[in-house]
Amino acid sequence: MNKVNHILFILGFALLFSACKSKNNVQTNSASDSNNLLETRYRMMMEYPVDSMSMPRSMTIKSNLIKKVPSRDWTSGFFAGNLWQLYRLTGNSDYKKQAEKWTPFSKKESVNRGSHDVGFKVFCAFGEGLKVEKNSDYEQTIIKGAETLCTRFDEKVGAIRSWDFNKEIWDYPVIIDNMMNLELLFEASKLSGNKKYHDIAVQHANTTLKNQFRKDNSCYHVIDYNPATGAVRKKTTLQGYNDDSVWARGQAWAVYGFTMSYRYTKDKAYIDQAEATAAFFMTNKNLPEDGIPYWDFKDPAIPDSARDVSAATIMASALYELYGYTKNERYLAFADKIIRTLHSEKYILNKEINAPFILDHSTGNWPKHDEIDEPIVYADYYFLEALLRKKDL
Ligand code: GLY
Repeated sequence: MNKVNHILFILGFALLFSACKSKNNVQTNSASDSNNLLETRYRMMMEYPVDSMSMPRSMTIKSNLIKKVPSRDWTSGFFAGNLWQLYRLTGNSDYKKQAEKWTPFSKKESVNRGSHDVGFKVFCAFGEGLKVEKNSDYEQTIIKGAETLCTRFDEKVGAIRSWDFNKEIWDYPVIIDNMMNLELLFEASKLSGNKKYHDIAVQHANTTLKNQFRKDNSCYHVIDYNPATGAVRKKTTLQGYNDDSVWARGQAWAVYGFTMSYRYTKDKAYIDQAEATAAFFMTNKNLPEDGIPYWDFKDPAIPDSARDVSAATIMASALYELYGYTKNERYLAFADKIIRTLHSEKYILNKEINAPFILDHSTGNWPKHDEIDEPIVYADYYFLEALLRKKDL
């Protein structure tokens, strides 16, 4: 982005935020206050030292501990992706230099057949790099990752197997999050000309469409299949409150995943599902006025329950794309509301905290008591993506 565009972008947000006081009377910060806070956060991300063994994933603020993970963790591509997006957002080449250093961190995951997460790990780093400039090594890594992901596809089930653990409980688990990995396949198909990747992505999306949703258009987290027959064995959860509850991030993965799949296929059934699940989310009686959901819409502890900012940022980014296809102003208004809410001291991590994260108050895995109400790298990734999508509208 050149300097003039950057100034226009900041001005645009300044107009948006100076006019805003959200409907529930939560006073958001002025544009310059929140931009100052954000700039501090962005600088800390750039200055975070490159480490070829571990990536900052989340932080426990009370103990001032940054959780660092190796490349096999499902989140390992997000930090590089954040730096690429910061470069696109600000035009500052220092972010690009850091992004180039961090991107190879998850490269070896392109041949790791151990889980479906190869999409997150590879595409969120290498795919973001390709949005900035052509790079044949990045292209080959994406194609290799797609080839690896396809080894987890089963014709009988018509879906990619998500996980290999809990074999005593599940035969062939497919989780809603897996929709996000299809972007790797769709893009690899375009880069390589190999239709197989596209076709597998479509089969996976169709199977998910058929089995993963309830009548009210919320979705289950995990569907377990019988690989011998392809029949559904169980509709269940790992990260939700219980099997029949509505895990907030799962709903956001669904809306994002089907909107993205519509981008590559123009299949109306996909956008219909994205709209139906978005409606469930946006009109839910348990959604707080500020648009940031509790981690599960059916947690009995609501309103004394943890929020999940990551579900909100994924949803905001998805809704900007959905708005682009439908021109339904409700999606634009809702995404704007989320972004406006997040531009506040309540949600932007305090500037005294020296850590490479932007937003506080995400919930990673409530049933495991892990990463509750914390800054998490993927919430930042979809926040930055939402800002870029808003700019592009
Ligand atoms: N994909 C794992 C999660 O959303 O927590």
